[in-house]
Parts: sequence; C-alpha cells; structure tokens
Amino acid sequence: MRTLFISSILFFLAFIQLNAQNTLTLKVDQAKTKISKEIYGHFSEHLGTCIYEGIYVGENSDIPNINGYRTDVVEAFKELKVPVLRWPGGCFADTYHWKDGIGPKENRPSIVNVHWGGVTEDNSFGTHEFLDFCELIGTEPYLSINVGSGTVQEAVDWVQYVTTDNENPMSELRKQNGREDPWNVKFWGIGNETWGCGGDMRPEYYADIYRHYAGYVRGHDFQKIAVGPSSNDFNWTEKMMQGLQDKKHLVQGLSLHHYTLPTNSWSGSKGSSTEFGEEMYFKTLKNTYVVKELIEKHLAIMDKYDPQKRVSLIVDEWGTWYDALPGTNPGFLQQQNTMRDAIVAAINLNIFNNHADRISMANIAQIVNVLQAVILTKGPEMVKTPTYHVFKMFNVHQDATLVPVELKSEQYTYEGESLPGVVASASLNNGVTSLTLCNLNPNKVSSIECNIEGAQYSTSSAQIINAEYITDYNDFGKDEKVNIRDFKVENPKNGKLKIEIPAHSVVMVQFK
Ligand code: AHR
Repeated sequence: MRTLFISSILFFLAFIQLNAQNTLTLKVDQAKTKISKEIYGHFSEHLGTCIYEGIYVGENSDIPNINGYRTDVVEAFKELKVPVLRWPGGCFADTYHWKDGIGPKENRPSIVNVHWGGVTEDNSFGTHEFLDFCELIGTEPYLSINVGSGTVQEAVDWVQYVTTDNENPMSELRKQNGREDPWNVKFWGIGNETWGCGGDMRPEYYADIYRHYAGYVRGHDFQKIAVGPSSNDFNWTEKMMQGLQDKKHLVQGLSLHHYTLPTNSWSGSKGSSTEFGEEMYFKTLKNTYVVKELIEKHLAIMDKYDPQKRVSLIVDEWGTWYDALPGTNPGFLQQQNTMRDAIVAAINLNIFNNHADRISMANIAQIVNVLQAVILTKGPEMVKTPTYHVFKMFNVHQDATLVPVELKSEQYTYEGESLPGVVASASLNNGVTSLTLCNLNPNKVSSIECNIEGAQYSTSSAQIINAEYITDYNDFGKDEKVNIRDFKVENPKNGKLKIEIPAHSVVMVQFK
C-alpha cells in the first residue's frame, strides 16, 4: 500500500514536470506608472579605489584624463547613462567634513578613512570635484549629509555653499573657490545607516534628529531622504514612519539597504566572487530574490502611515558582497563580477521596476572597484563587468511606463529549495514595449508562452547577456566573455509568441 502511495506521488510529480509551463502576459493597455530613471542609479564612496584611482587620478597622472577624471571611465559612464550618483558614502559620509575638501588642494587637510582600510586621503577630491564630475557625465548628484559626527550648522553651510545664489558667506566662499553659479543638487540624504556605522541610534531617537536636520536643510525642489531599514528591520520602518507622520513635508524618501551575501551570516567567509558551484549560486540568487518579500513588507508598513505614497522607498545600497579578492586590502571590498552578478542585477532591477509606484530611486553599491561594481580598473586598464552590461540593456526602462506583467513560471529547484525560474518586468516608451527577463536556472532552457494584451505588434527584436559558465567574467587585457549580443526571437502572431531563454541568461525583447 505504502509503495503504491509513493509511486502515485512520483507519477504526479513527473506529470507536473512534463506539463510545467511558463506563461507571461503583458498588459500593455494597463501601463500607467512611470519607472523613475533614478532606479538605475549608482553609489560612489571614499572606499578602496572607487574614488581615487577608479574615478579620479589627478591632472598630472599618466592615465589619460579630463581635468583629473579618467577618460575611459568618463566615456563608460556616459554610455551607461548614469542617472544619479550618491556620494561621499556610506559609512565614510558620517566622518566627512566637507570644508576639508574645498579651496586650494595644497591647503586641504588629510583625513584617515577609519571605516575602510585606515588609509590616509588628501581630500583632493571634494565637493567641487564631485559635482563637476556629475556635470561632466550628465548625472544628478545625491549628497549624503554627515549626521554621525557633524552638526546641523555644518549641513546648512554645505547646502548654502552648493545651492544658493543670493549674497551669503557660503555662496561667496564658493565663488572665491572658482565656481560662480550654484549647482543644482536636489537629492539630500540626512545621515547613513544611523542604526549602525552612522551613530548606532535607535529609530525613535533618529526620527527626532532627522526632524531637526530636515527642518534646516532647505531649498527649492529638494528631496530629503531619511535613513531607512536594513534588510528585514521592519521595526525601524514602523518607528520612522510613526515618528515622521506629522512632518511628511520634511521627508520625500526613506532608504532601504539590502546586500546579497551567498551565506546567511555577516561573520566569517562570505565566499569567493569567482570560485563557486551551484550550491553557492543558488544561495546567492535566493538571498537576492528575498528582496521582493522585504520590499513588499516595508511597503505595507509605509502604506499604513502614508497611503497617498508621498514618501518614496529609495534602495540606495544594494548588490552582492563576497570575500575581498585574495591579496587585496580586506577593507577595500574589492571583488570580481561574474555571470552570477549579471543575474543578481537583473533580478533586482526587474523587482524594482515592478514596484515603481513607490520605489523612486535605487543605487547599486558601488560604481567602480568596490562590491558589485559596473567598472573595474587596474592601473591604466579598465573592464566593463557583466553587471555593466545588464544596466546598459535595462536602460530602455529609464523613465518609461511600467507594463504590468503576469508571470507563471516553473520553479528552479536545488536540493529541495525553490525559486521562480524566471523573473521579468516590462515597460512602454513611444509605442515600443520592452520586456526584460532572466532565466535563473543554470541547467535548463526556459520556454515561455507570451501573450500580448492591449497592443498590436508585428515585429520583435532581442538582445541577450549570457556566458558558457556562471563563473565567467571579463578580465583585464582579454576579450569580454560576458556582454550584450543580438538574439533571435519569433515575431508575435495574433498577440502570441514563444520565447526560449537559454540557461543562466538575461534577455531583452522589444515589440513594435
Ligand atoms: O557599501 C559599503 C558599506 O556598506 C557602506 O559604507 C555602508 O553604508 C554599508 O554598510
């Protein structure tokens, strides 16, 4: 009897497997929410070789540069259409005193970077250098104010120095330092990780500190961003929303930080960025996909206090975090970036798009040489990582209108645990619908029956990012192993087509 029972179950499971089907419906006529271009934002901290070496080499460097900024990196960022860049941290921001980084470089004091490797920096990259860099690459700056070791007055002075045009001591000082016109900075973060490196505060205390700072940090068209939770700290979200409920005009965004570790703990080894098998791959994707549930739970709390959605969720630190590369300073957080990271980026960005009604910005950590970087440099050499190519491919969604997607997908199962096999999102821009998909499964092609509702399309074109192995990456001085290639898909007929996505790959299809 028992044997009969077990064989019936096995037969049933095999039946499900044979009939398992992926179906995706694009509801083009229901497109209404704008995907803010800032969801494709980046983060640059004084950490390791992100700023010095990665972006800024100084005018006297042998590395080709424009006013001290690496020419290769400038060109790569322009091509990527970086919409917003956060600076100067991270943990560094709460040790940074902006007045140390203005005026003649030879007079600037040095600073010891206590959080990241204990190295001494000469402050040659300061407010002018950052904001001029943003102008050069055509990006919006997002400045992080020092709350941990700064003062309200220091913050007010910075805002006046950067943004005011009327006669006041700070705008006069800026002019003396060579910049006549103010810069247009609309994103201001008040503190960073105040629950941790930014002051070890409790949410009730920080909510009051935030109110104090935000009342003085004033300017036209400013978006002030409060420190939000880390990953699953729902209590922080609850207390912040409660604490700011009667002062919603002071807060336009609440941040969320969620890093993907291939392990379940911050202590001990986090695993190699290049040497891993399917077990680590699966865990990495699982700890990435969880962000969907985290976002939905944080949003439910925000909806309770702010049903009109006046306060946005800003995911201003996300990405993979592995062990530092062997032989590098562990405080520099330098890692490689493989096909696995491309899948991680595609999962996150698709999830952010699908929550564009509340998520108005996201910033991957970090733009060059740190954590899940889009660019890596070594001396005069530079590579574009697999993550760079995902951002470039997904640029079609910047400021486009979200198309709701209904997706029924097979599971990717590993040792009894499961994840959706496919993650997707879509948008509409000038009559063209762009669909981005990723197949998480490293062992199987995913075949998707696609239905297009509410629009008549007759042609499709597509691109793909994939590689032979999940461990493949782009190395210095070698041809790129992972980049964007053209991909063949059928044209839709009567609103239907089948898309076959190769194992562990990211695909973008456009319908016209
Ligand atoms: O991105 C590296 C660090 O991670 C940031 O400085 C900090 O905000 C976070 O803990």
